[in-house]
Amino acid sequence: MNNAKTISHYEDEEQLFFPDSSFSTRANIQNTQIYDSAWVDYKNYWMGEAQKLHWFKPWDKVLEWHSPFAQWFVNGKLNACYNCLDRHLEGWRRNKAAIIFEGELGDRQVWTYQDLHREVTRFANVLRGMGVNKGDTVTIYLPMIPEAVITMLACARIGAPHSVVFGGFSAGALRDRISDAESRVIITADGCWRRGKAIPLKSNVDEAISQCPTVEKVVVVQRTRVEVKMEPVRDVWYHEIMRKTPAGCQCEIMDAEDVLFILYTSGTTGKPKGIVHTTGGYLTGVASTHRNVFDLKEDDVYWCTADIGWITGHSYVVYGPLANGATILIFEGAPDYPGKDRFWEIIEKYRVSIFYTAPTAIRMFMKWGESWPQGRDLSSLRLLGSVGEPINPEAWHWYHKNIGRGRCPVVDTWWQTETGSIMVAPLPGITPVKPGSCTKPLPGVFVDVVDENGKPVVPGGSGYLVIKRPWPSMLRTVYKDPQRYIDTYWSRFAGMYFTGDGAKKDKHGYIWVRGRVDDIINVSGHRIGSAEVESALVEHPAVAEAAVIGRSHELKGQAVTAFVTLREGVIWATELEDDLKNHVAKRIGGLARPEEIIYAGELPKTRSGKIMRRLLRDIAEGRVMGDISTLADPSVISQLLERKIAI
Ligand code: PRX
Repeated sequence: MNNAKTISHYEDEEQLFFPDSSFSTRANIQNTQIYDSAWVDYKNYWMGEAQKLHWFKPWDKVLEWHSPFAQWFVNGKLNACYNCLDRHLEGWRRNKAAIIFEGELGDRQVWTYQDLHREVTRFANVLRGMGVNKGDTVTIYLPMIPEAVITMLACARIGAPHSVVFGGFSAGALRDRISDAESRVIITADGCWRRGKAIPLKSNVDEAISQCPTVEKVVVVQRTRVEVKMEPVRDVWYHEIMRKTPAGCQCEIMDAEDVLFILYTSGTTGKPKGIVHTTGGYLTGVASTHRNVFDLKEDDVYWCTADIGWITGHSYVVYGPLANGATILIFEGAPDYPGKDRFWEIIEKYRVSIFYTAPTAIRMFMKWGESWPQGRDLSSLRLLGSVGEPINPEAWHWYHKNIGRGRCPVVDTWWQTETGSIMVAPLPGITPVKPGSCTKPLPGVFVDVVDENGKPVVPGGSGYLVIKRPWPSMLRTVYKDPQRYIDTYWSRFAGMYFTGDGAKKDKHGYIWVRGRVDDIINVSGHRIGSAEVESALVEHPAVAEAAVIGRSHELKGQAVTAFVTLREGVIWATELEDDLKNHVAKRIGGLARPEEIIYAGELPKTRSGKIMRRLLRDIAEGRVMGDISTLADPSVISQLLERKIAI
């Protein structure tokens, strides 16, 4: 096993980077009073932001709050797809590029708003033709291709919530999500391109739905032309059915509180949670934050590298930017294919001006060296963003210097699947930044750091990150499980939303997020539940018990480390370790594959039988161990240490 290396930090609470005057004098937000006025009357602030959208009927009341259940823009009527497309068709924007697509193999497509509208309305008609009605959940399992955006917006147009499943999830994970959402229609592709190779996708769908009786139709986009099995009647080719279907489809008038989508995310139990987002508040949150945090201008070329299967893809590839009439770039492939300068080549080629990525990617670029970006013209860039995990100051400086060339503000954005939109981030024209801190809560957002008892920590103190008042894009519930919504988010601190993150608040009120304090592991900015990996491991016939933790990892932020005990008679071997790793990857997806599996004679438990994960993390990270006095059997630790050294 590699020695776990911690990401190097040299946090400096005093080091402030002020926005350059050439930037701040042109910024969308130049008046610092925005913070105070939103603080005084946050409902009024959000009302003003909502008014920038198109509503078929205005709301009667901004907020109805029966803690922890919120309704925003009560009785207001709108449609997310209309806001992302139709309203841009009236003026010159109709011929503006909505999507610039760069395929893995260098193929390119440009879709204007008008083109996108035509294709989306056509696919909306396809869905209606399949009997999809308002309220029916459609599962989308696609790679990063324009059809992912098209099919999401088509669902929104007819009021069918979408459940997008990341293409890297396995058949098993897909099956669980389809079953929970009870989808009748699945949209997928034959395959996708990755580092020059065609990776099959449809076969995962076939495997998943053999156990999903609700599924009636599978629409297949042709992307790679890998051979697929098409089941007569059930399976249809996207291009064939689109050819037979007319464009032009009236959009459904949606209530502000009608569900826009469900997105599954890992929780602290084995079962992923379906996070429910509704139409009016969500769209208000993402459009507002996209405009303000990224300082969007009409002529920007905006590239967010997130996959559509994650919340960042939903909020900041699709809904936020398109609601604002932006030009978005979508890239199908990997950052190192064919060369390690693929991203910089794309920025140069399309004159990308706003670039939003994750610290894990930045650390990888650092490792590859600055010569890769140096060889490219990055002068079009004017703003950089970061999301998904804490950005270590070293990576921040590298990004600022080598990609932003010292000119571009860097916005570190803290938020979650549940928050729907960015909560803590600088407003780049007015907020000085400190590398490694996501700075202050955005206007209209009440994030704070509290102690064990829910009291705000004193400046310089550390504690738990909470949100004290409702916000428009908040999750409304956990799909089919309101109790889980209450228990997970609203029970730890009375009247406050608990984020699951630990954080420090410095003397200027700046927030430094430390990471999860629950059993969620953040691997390369993606959430993996310890319990999910544990239940996959104990499904394996060789495993008796499993405990999974996240250990610090130089590139990924955290890596999955599993400790297992074996069933009677099973002998530990390297092949078994590989087999177990593959088993997890097959059950959940490559992302969850443990970095290492440590065989334990026994797992360290308290006298009441609780696995002491904190100790396991200490062992995995090679630290001096904390208190072991509550251990039922302290000798377990010395055995484990011997094993770890042996690996
Ligand atoms: O721990 C925080 C971390 O990612 C978690 C949310 O993960 P997910 O729902 O998958 O959404 C990721 C993209 C928004 C948070 O609880 N996180 C996200 N952004 C940051 C972050 N940690 C520190 N700094 C950030 N900017």
